[in-house]
Amino acid sequence: MPKLTVVNREREEKTVEAAAGVSVMEAIRDNGFDELLALCGGCCSCATCHVHIEPSYMDKLPAMSEDENDLLDSSDHRDEYSRLSCQVPITAELEGLKVTIAQED
Ligand code: FES
Repeated sequence: MPKLTVVNREREEKTVEAAAGVSVMEAIRDNGFDELLALCGGCCSCATCHVHIEPSYMDKLPAMSEDENDLLDSSDHRDEYSRLSCQVPITAELEGLKVTIAQED
């Protein structure tokens, strides 16, 4: 199972295992990070699963949809490494990825 390092809003890091096929959001939430609200459950309509991706992994991610892009625009904390974690499936290529939970809007 791919390993993922999650950095919470207090800058604490924890490495977790994620099953291939789940989303990064599910991997974070299922490992007890309750600050990632993921209110819409992963259907790309809330933006409460916003994370910052480690820069070197950006080109391994699927392209961003227009909906995801629009939702991220509503965040004051968006940067060039922002993604909605529910839109990023875990794959073997993402082994070792580090993601930082975005500050709350
Ligand atoms: S969980 Fe709502 S947009 Fe990702």
